[in-house]
Amino acid sequence: MDLTHWNKKSLLGIEELTCSEINQILDLAKFLKNEMDNGCSEKAYLCGKRIVNLFMEPSTRTRIAFEVAAKSLNADVITVAEKSSSLTKGETLRDTALNIQALGADAIVLRHSSPGSPLFLSKIVDVPIINAGDGAHEHPSQALLDLYTIQERVGSVEGMKITILGDILFSRVARSNYWALSKMGAEVTFAGPSTLVPKQFESMGAKVSHDLKEALKDADAVMLLRIQHERQSSTHFPSLGEYTTIFGLNRDRKKWLKEGTLILHPGPVNRGVELDSELADSSQSLILNQVTNGIAVRMAILYLCTTKGMVGEIE
Ligand code: CP
Repeated sequence: MDLTHWNKKSLLGIEELTCSEINQILDLAKFLKNEMDNGCSEKAYLCGKRIVNLFMEPSTRTRIAFEVAAKSLNADVITVAEKSSSLTKGETLRDTALNIQALGADAIVLRHSSPGSPLFLSKIVDVPIINAGDGAHEHPSQALLDLYTIQERVGSVEGMKITILGDILFSRVARSNYWALSKMGAEVTFAGPSTLVPKQFESMGAKVSHDLKEALKDADAVMLLRIQHERQSSTHFPSLGEYTTIFGLNRDRKKWLKEGTLILHPGPVNRGVELDSELADSSQSLILNQVTNGIAVRMAILYLCTTKGMVGEIE
């Protein structure tokens, strides 16, 4: 397949991507997923490449999916967690990255609590930097796998109404999904309490709603987000119980949704808080499809960033 729509070295966010760059990643992900499904999962597209996962925050899905993706393309992959790195001994992120480059890395996948840290490193090292979540800024691979998963189910997001419900203020997933979905023609509503969904988000182009019933009634898909306690330095609502009472998606509120509205969640799900198990495990839930698709999407990202589209085509 033709890969000439990609000529970036790093993947720092969705905001900076064109529609054709987004489609390039998703088309390659589809190609690679088909190969995996047809038993060709060990193609050596990244043979000889060394990928370093530098994860300075906890992760299950993103870290494992990047590892599986790299191994499936025959790359060497090394994962470094903050507690096992020399960052705990006072080394800077800058020096850590320079040392990883000196150890022969061909790409660094970075998760960090500081917004902008992937951009910062991309100006210091020569190897590609792939943003695996930077504070409340962006989580591009998550938004790409979310978009891929919705498109896989319905064909296209153009004209869809998609409500993202929960802690928008502190969510990198909400921001990246806004850029991805709106660029591809969906109408995005951010919903939740006014303290976590301030009106300022309207300046991005999103709709803002503090009325759950209103935000759910026309939605073709609802994406739930957990409350990100680790990023909040003060209380944004009286209690978790109160949040659940007013904004949790449960059996009763399912009646406010249209028949067949898709349910997504980037994980980790706090069952019984933002989303009840009955809906999380229902046939309209795409939550585990999202996780599985994260492998193919990250294979595509690793391939495109480490070859910078230079290969021109893949077969
Ligand atoms: N969605 C997501 O980023 O999950 P992890 O924190 O487990 O990687």
